[in-house]
Amino acid sequence: MLKAECFFLTFTATETPKMAFRKITPQILEEFRLILGEDYVCFDDDSIRNYGHDETEDFNFPPEVVLKPVTSEEISSILKICNKEMIPVTPRGAGTGLSGAALPVFGGVILSMERFSRILEIDERNLQATVEPGVINEVFQLAVKEKGLFYPPDPASKGSCFLGGNIALSSGGPKAVKYGTTKEYVLNLEVVLPTGEIIWTGANVLKNSTGFNLTQLMVGSEGMLGVVTKIVFRLIPMPQKTIVMLVPFFSAEKACESVAAVFKAGIIPSAMEFMERDAIDFAMRFVSGLSIPIKEEVQAHLLIELDGNDLDPMMKDAEKISEIMTIFGSDEILFADTEEQKQNLWRMRRCVGEAVKSHSVYKEEDTVVMRAELPRLLKGVKEIGKKYGFRSVCYGHAGDGNLHVNIIKGDMTDEQWSSNLPAGIREIFELCVELGGTISGEHGIGWVQKEFMDIVFTEKSLQIQKGIRDVFDPHGIMNPGKMFI
Ligand code: LAC
Ligand code: ZN
Repeated sequence: MLKAECFFLTFTATETPKMAFRKITPQILEEFRLILGEDYVCFDDDSIRNYGHDETEDFNFPPEVVLKPVTSEEISSILKICNKEMIPVTPRGAGTGLSGAALPVFGGVILSMERFSRILEIDERNLQATVEPGVINEVFQLAVKEKGLFYPPDPASKGSCFLGGNIALSSGGPKAVKYGTTKEYVLNLEVVLPTGEIIWTGANVLKNSTGFNLTQLMVGSEGMLGVVTKIVFRLIPMPQKTIVMLVPFFSAEKACESVAAVFKAGIIPSAMEFMERDAIDFAMRFVSGLSIPIKEEVQAHLLIELDGNDLDPMMKDAEKISEIMTIFGSDEILFADTEEQKQNLWRMRRCVGEAVKSHSVYKEEDTVVMRAELPRLLKGVKEIGKKYGFRSVCYGHAGDGNLHVNIIKGDMTDEQWSSNLPAGIREIFELCVELGGTISGEHGIGWVQKEFMDIVFTEKSLQIQKGIRDVFDPHGIMNPGKMFI
């Protein structure tokens, strides 16, 4: 159903899948209709266009059909058919991903999880919740907050991304520095396997030393091992107070150097974000009603948040941080006085990715190193940019050593963009690994980073990972074309 009349840029995968996939026949479509009902089997132009992309660059791979199931049993029936008929299946959350993990690169079925949108239980006695994967991250956060509970993972797209997508990519966000990423909160998962069986991966307990850890194997598996249909999360009590400070620096590298010193002094902020000058400028132009006076010479900012229940020790930590920042040459620190100011600073930080995207064609790399190596990473990225002729906007989760490098096309010609970039990106990733880091901290590998996996893993290690996939998915129908070349 690749339609010539669709007016959008489409891509097709050029590689050969593990097995020969088949096209969806009218008879198979009829079987899908019998399972889901007419309304939830969609192949109109809008559906094909809208479900062919996520937020990764300008990729769009048209699926043949978009299916919208609402129960695990329906998914099981669909997967049994696809497994038998060799139809590729790409599970999809809200489509906010940045590594192309939800792109249906071989066509086939998009399995949209949008109707799995129920919070099934918030168990206040055990500080746990059971949810479906199509619940929006922030909807869940607010629902547990009403009960005094806290679900910390907060990707920049929290207002629209689904919890299922967060699991597929092991998403992080600013609070990961103190509270960890999605994987730290997943206790147990209901999964429909590619062959149609339904399993639970673990148990709803805080300690579990029983068998292999299938729960954590699923987290970050990018929809290649099965479809998550229920999630049991652990929760923690909600901290009552926050202090938010914006720290300007005249040198971006000095800003990065100061980060490790804060932790060394015994303080763990609930967020510690880095934005170089371009990042904050783009963000301020992008969000209306947001303006912070910034001196001409300021090159970067750290956005730091402390949380807790008792303001006195938090203030002491804030003072200590201020002293450390001064040692690294910071300018006057802005403390957010009101809840509104805090929200505005966060709004600004969260929109940096979108702001850069709206400015130019770009590529986003999700580099991560040990936190104390961050200054060397930033310096290296800029040097590599000079060598290959590209400009980058760097920002991200400094406390985690997780630097988002947005390479912008700007004035580069198409020729320069396509010929210089892969080698430049490879060099950036090699530098990450040299510094003890890796090539994705929270966005995943998906479609766009898979060609770089050889930098991180030996052939044997890749073989083991592919072998695990084959045990779950002998025909290779689940999200093919992702993670491995
Ligand atoms: C952020 C997303 C892009 O940190 O991960 O803004
Ligand atoms: Zn991020």
